[in-house]
Amino acid sequence: MATKRAYIETYGCQMNISDTELMQGILAEQGYAAATSPEDADVILVNTCAIRDHAEQRVLGRVGQLQQFREGRPEVVIGVTGCMAQRMGADLLGKAGGVDLVMGPDAYRELPAKLASLRSPAPTPQAPRGLTVLRFDPHENYEGVEAKRISGLVAWVPIQRGCNYRCTYCIVPYVRGDEKNREPPQILAEVRRLVDDGVVDVTLLGQTVNSYEHGDWDFPRLLRAVARVDGIRRVRFTSPHPNDFTRELVAAMAEEPTVCAQLHLPVQSGHNRTLKRMLRRYTVEAYREKIAWVREAIPHIALSTDIIVAFPGETEEEYEATLELMREIRFDDAYLYKYSLRDGTPATRLPRDQFIPDDVAQARLQKLIATHREIQAEINRAEVGRVVEVLVEKEARRGGLQGRTESNKVVTFAGPTSLVGSFVDVRLTATSGATFSGVWTGAIERVA
Ligand code: SAH
Ligand code: SF4
Ligand code: F3S
Repeated sequence: MATKRAYIETYGCQMNISDTELMQGILAEQGYAAATSPEDADVILVNTCAIRDHAEQRVLGRVGQLQQFREGRPEVVIGVTGCMAQRMGADLLGKAGGVDLVMGPDAYRELPAKLASLRSPAPTPQAPRGLTVLRFDPHENYEGVEAKRISGLVAWVPIQRGCNYRCTYCIVPYVRGDEKNREPPQILAEVRRLVDDGVVDVTLLGQTVNSYEHGDWDFPRLLRAVARVDGIRRVRFTSPHPNDFTRELVAAMAEEPTVCAQLHLPVQSGHNRTLKRMLRRYTVEAYREKIAWVREAIPHIALSTDIIVAFPGETEEEYEATLELMREIRFDDAYLYKYSLRDGTPATRLPRDQFIPDDVAQARLQKLIATHREIQAEINRAEVGRVVEVLVEKEARRGGLQGRTESNKVVTFAGPTSLVGSFVDVRLTATSGATFSGVWTGAIERVA
């Protein structure tokens, strides 16, 4: 029998990208080859996100488009996996022209078996075929699965799945279940293997990555151990929760030379009443204090955050407080969102008249984005002229090479392709506001 080919398209956060790598590993183990496009795939999977309505609408549109690849090939299987699959379940089977398989984030080990049981005949609107696998498994951490990673230089390593917080806007705990933490020896063995294979930049992943605990291991201890793996050059983590952000963690970041001077610390709102109603469990003052600790210990740290505007009931004054916090802290980067109602989350029970009209929400978002971009451009313009160390990751889309700095900023510059996989010194010559262009100084350290 000819080798089957699987194509996976990924939406959502780094956890989902990492899950796609796990699925590719599970499928490869069972003899599937990875397809680079849906045209030549026997199995087409869309690994989805449920965080906002917009993300789900995009996926439905895309699944509709993908139906064309079954024309004349009725045996092709189309599956939806991930958070939206878990949220919508069997409802997805009849959607967007036909979905054969709906699988949640805890069931990927069953992927090959379920695919095998889904052979022709092809579904028709009258007789759709379909399988759903949606159970939660409190012990599934995909231990023993060898992920098929996209890059040989940078890697995401999940250390935790699920979430124990219950932020009132958020769907994640309902589609990914409670927090479960991997065992330290397994994590460390994986990191060592990656580094032996040439990976130099590792990001530890979890929804609230710094709430990690296992036996007498907490997150700072794990971070230090990972940072000391022989040959590792850059260690990052995402996303920490401000509540679990401790002085010990700041000390580990400051003292371990391989931990990057970069921190993504989602704040969500700059007003205590909103934070409370979001059930974030910290105050603006506490957040500010933690930022002060980290800036004191690591003065050149690059900071980024997530913010939601127009949470139901957010007043103009509360929104202004968020703008003010942004001007005060001056984030290097920010992911800014308009509140999106997610069925089943606590915020949906707030009184209807508290929900903010879309034009108001949009205006709040636009102004926040404009403010952020201004600040970001100011910060980055001040960097122009400096020489920074760049890990060259790939050829840039518009020619030249592309890499990232320790602070996770993207830099493009001209140079030979042979530099991919090296650390090079680049003089920053210009910024678009968010990213940089630069000139290679000629200094190079080959690592891969
Ligand atoms: N676990 C991470 C966040 C995961 S979701 C954390 O707690 O930081 C990524 C971001 O999406 C969140 O930080 C939040 O800003 C945004 N988000 C989550 N739910 C949302 C919703 N219902 N509407 C709009 N944005 C949302
Ligand atoms: Fe969602 Fe809050 Fe958990 Fe983050 S901490 S995943 S925002 S519930
Ligand atoms: Fe989306 Fe699931 Fe990540 S909802 S943000 S893909 S955990």
